[in-house]
This record gives sequence, C-alpha cells and structure tokens, in this order.
Amino acid sequence: MFAQADIDPLKTSAAMALLDWYGQNARILPWRIGPEEISAGEKPDPYHVWLSEIMLQQTTVAAVASRYVEFLERWPTVEAMAGAPVEDVLGQWAGLGYYARARNLHKCAVVIASEQGGNFPDTEEKLLELPGIGEYTAAAIAAIAFDKPAVVIDGNIARIVSRLFAIETQLPAAKPEIKRRTAQIWPAKRSGDFAQGLMDLGAGICKPKSPLCHECPISSVCDAYSLGLVERFPIKALRKVKPQRKGVVFALQNAKGEVLFERRPENGLLGAMLGLPGSPWAEEASDDALVHKPVRADWALVGEVTHTFTHFHLALDVFIANAPQGFRRSVKQQWIAPNQARLPTVMKKAVELAKNNLTLKT
Ligand code: ADE
Repeated sequence: MFAQADIDPLKTSAAMALLDWYGQNARILPWRIGPEEISAGEKPDPYHVWLSEIMLQQTTVAAVASRYVEFLERWPTVEAMAGAPVEDVLGQWAGLGYYARARNLHKCAVVIASEQGGNFPDTEEKLLELPGIGEYTAAAIAAIAFDKPAVVIDGNIARIVSRLFAIETQLPAAKPEIKRRTAQIWPAKRSGDFAQGLMDLGAGICKPKSPLCHECPISSVCDAYSLGLVERFPIKALRKVKPQRKGVVFALQNAKGEVLFERRPENGLLGAMLGLPGSPWAEEASDDALVHKPVRADWALVGEVTHTFTHFHLALDVFIANAPQGFRRSVKQQWIAPNQARLPTVMKKAVELAKNNLTLKT
C-alpha cells in the first residue's frame, strides 16, 4: 500500500477535469454510448462492449469501426453469434489479424449463450474466466458496460499515466507502478466514461509523438509536462529485432478463373483460416519449400510478398500455374473465385500478386 502522502490531491482532482473534458470532446464511435446518454440513464449493451473491445485489441479504431458494424448486422445478439458455425466467424474476421481471437470470440459467445442465459457477468473476476478475456478486456467490460470502478490500462492509458507521474522505470518493468498510479487517480463513479476519456485523450492529445499539451485538460498536474520532457515518457526497453522467415505459396488457377485454397491447420498462426497451399515458414529460404507444390505443373515465380506479424517478418515467394488436365483437388482443398475468398491479409497480398499475373497469362 502507498502512504497517504504519496497520493497527490491535485492529481486525483485531475480525474474531474478529464471527465469534464470527455463530456465536451468524446469521440462518436459506433459501439459507444456517449457521456450525455450515460448521464441521461442509458446503459451500454454488454454484448456490444465485449465485441468492440475484443475487436479493438492490437488494432486501431479506424480499422475496426466499419467491421464492427458488419459483425453486429450479421449477429445482432450473442445468441446469434453462438449459433453460427465458427468458420463463419473466422471468415467475417478475415483481415483483422490474430485469428485465435476470432476462435475465442465464438467460444465465449457459446459459453455466454449456453451457460449464462445470454448475460455477461459484471465483475472482472468472472469475466476473466471467459475464453479470450484477459486482464485488460475484463476491466474494460466491467468499467464500460457495468460502470464498475475497474482500473483499465491499455497502451494509451499507460502512456498518459507514465507522463502524469514521470515514471522513470522502463516498460515493461514499469507495469505494476503504472497500475498502482492509475488506481490512485481512478474515480469511484463514471468509471466507464473515465476509461473512455483517457482512451480519447491518448488517441487525440497525449499522443506518442508531438502531443498537444496546450489542449490537454490535465497538463497543469502532469509531471512530464512540468519537466518539459513529455515525449521522453513512457521509457521503453530497446526492442529486440524481429526475426525473418521465408516461405513459398502456390496459386493454382482452373479454367473458370478460380484459385485453389486450403484451410490451414487448426493450431498455429492463421489457424483454421483459408490460405494458398505452400511450404512451412522457415528461418532460411530453401529449395525444399518447392516440394510443397499441390501438383506438378508449369509453375512460374511471379514475385514476393511481405508481411509483419507480432514476432517475425515473413516473405513469401509466390508461384502461379494453370491446373493441368485431370487435376483433382484433395478434400481439404477448395476452388474459390479469388475475390470471394475471406483471407488473412498476408494471403490476400499473395493472391493479389498472383491474380495480376494469372490474368495476363490466360
Ligand atoms: N480502444 C479500445 N477500446 C476503446 C474504446 N472503448 N473506445 C475508444 N478506443 C478504444
């Protein structure tokens, strides 16, 4: 526990300034019940809050907004999502990355619909027991959907708090200190507004580079600002260089212009998503990769696509061919018109490159 003297009353009163600022400046977002509606007694739908928070992990608001609306149109309730095949949820998720999240999304919907009467629990502890819900998401749902004083810490909030208190410890070691400091300023009421106010402040004002401190409602109590060192915080440990991996994919076209796809293995990266047939992704490029061709044909290398995942960079050589007479696909493979396939981004890039060349060839 911190000694009382450690709590700066000015900083705790900054919570009020932040809430006032949010009242005037809240972004209008498709999943959000704004501060005016909240004060008029409107309650957020926990399904909407859960869905948006899962979709927003590791992604930007801009990337998620229209995709969130599509999800809700397709599955307006948690029961509707639970009733859908998991492949449909994975397909709808295509391009959003981190596909284990889509599988957990569906799993969680099934648990809520079948074991909890369609109702999300309202405590962090119970929320944490659900598939795909970690510390951040449990706190965000408890605060935003149920207005519980749960301390929500995402990247934006961590940045604000590390500046507010000029925290010298490097990330990630600073996390416990950031949590303690965030808890000190968290208000007992309007927790959901406070969390979203901090998120908006972090997105628009307390930005990583060139923060707009002259517009910030809490700059008068910000230690980093008074030191003139805002951009110094948060202090981060040097990043490790991401390793490079190499692989090969094969785009086989049939006479109808369809391309051969196969579902990737259930476990592992892009698990259960559709992809082009290809080699495993190895640390070194190797001719061994070519044994993974789906069929002997007149294969031509048309170029390379690259994609960066959380833990490595990937470069895929893309080969194309027209399917030879008599080629029969295996049961795990399917012919799909390339613009109809719901693909993860790296496969979309590969198909795009292949398509340009296949059109020229035929
Ligand atoms: N990022 C993650 N959750 C968010 C939310 N509820 N509002 C704005 N940005 C967010």
